Amino acid sequence: MMADIMETIHLPLGERSYDIVIGAGLVGTLYDLTKDVLKRPRAVIITDENVAALHLNTAVEALKNNDIKVDTITVPAGEGSKSFANFEKVINRLLELEVERKDVVIALGGGVVGDLTGFAAATLRRGIEFIQVPTSLLAQVDSSVGGKTGINTKFGKNLLGAFHQPKKVIIDLEMLDTLPARELRAGYAEVIKYGLIDDLEFFEWLEKKGHLMVSNDADREIQAYAIGHSCRSKARIVAEDEREGGKRALLNLGHTFGHALEAECAYDGTLLHGEAVAIGMVMALDLACKLGLADTREQSRLINHLRSVDMYATGSELTKTFTVDALMKHMAQDKKVEDGKMVFITGAMGKAEVRRDIDASIIRKVLQNSLEAVV
Ligand code: GLY
Repeated sequence: MMADIMETIHLPLGERSYDIVIGAGLVGTLYDLTKDVLKRPRAVIITDENVAALHLNTAVEALKNNDIKVDTITVPAGEGSKSFANFEKVINRLLELEVERKDVVIALGGGVVGDLTGFAAATLRRGIEFIQVPTSLLAQVDSSVGGKTGINTKFGKNLLGAFHQPKKVIIDLEMLDTLPARELRAGYAEVIKYGLIDDLEFFEWLEKKGHLMVSNDADREIQAYAIGHSCRSKARIVAEDEREGGKRALLNLGHTFGHALEAECAYDGTLLHGEAVAIGMVMALDLACKLGLADTREQSRLINHLRSVDMYATGSELTKTFTVDALMKHMAQDKKVEDGKMVFITGAMGKAEVRRDIDASIIRKVLQNSLEAVV
């Protein structure tokens, strides 16, 4: 079977360069798309229970039918799988399977599977190669691209990790057909993020067409365009600043605020990462207003767009109640803290910038506004 490829985006990183392939039905043609990376007729697919039930057979068969020996490791679905304990289990299983330096592991799943698999690949035998096959919208437009891998610790999310680029990213749009609508919407927050960072035209396009990619009968062409555009933006930023010395930090727009909300929910599924990021991006615009970088009409515009696709825009809309103190405490643990100072991405729509000079009292006010917003 030949792959139905709609777009291939190259991420130029010298010897770590790779392609991001976007199309429909690509998992069924996994062999065609990975044969250039496999150095031996051998692969291990790491996935989670939800994705395994839906797509693992298709992926395994696509490789087995081409005489590739395939082993699989299935982890529980959810953020809990990015624990030390689960990481140890995965590593032990890979060693038990006698995975060698030249073997390749394939991450078939959302952000959790991608981050965990990538970190296992980064560390196993001092580094083996891996391929990302992201199955959630969030992973397709963000976490599978750019080589950030890692697990969580009791001190916070992604505090243990490595930059380890995949050898290829294979984005199969058909994976989105089986994604719960809530997860689709949560992933959409990361799509909006690219518009807010430096691409107002894309945000305007999303205002007109975005709803067509988050509904149950989503438009394939719209999805392909938005996902391709997001991946091109991400590839451009990562190519410029692979290890987040500067511009890549812009990709954390909404994340410092969002991670605090997520941490307060203990990653128990009551608030998805993308949902937290959406609320965090509204807070980042509120911060921009307070710094005189944006005006409140921009913030209203983002809130209106989020509401038009049934997404939360403020902390006050969540059933859980939060305190400013608790959120401030989580933010102080954020991995972006530098010299004890919190780092924020803020700015007008399409003009995001990195700020390290924000007074804690302003941040407290922004949090308070979101938690007390009248909806
Ligand atoms: N998700 C942010 C980044 O990859 O840099």
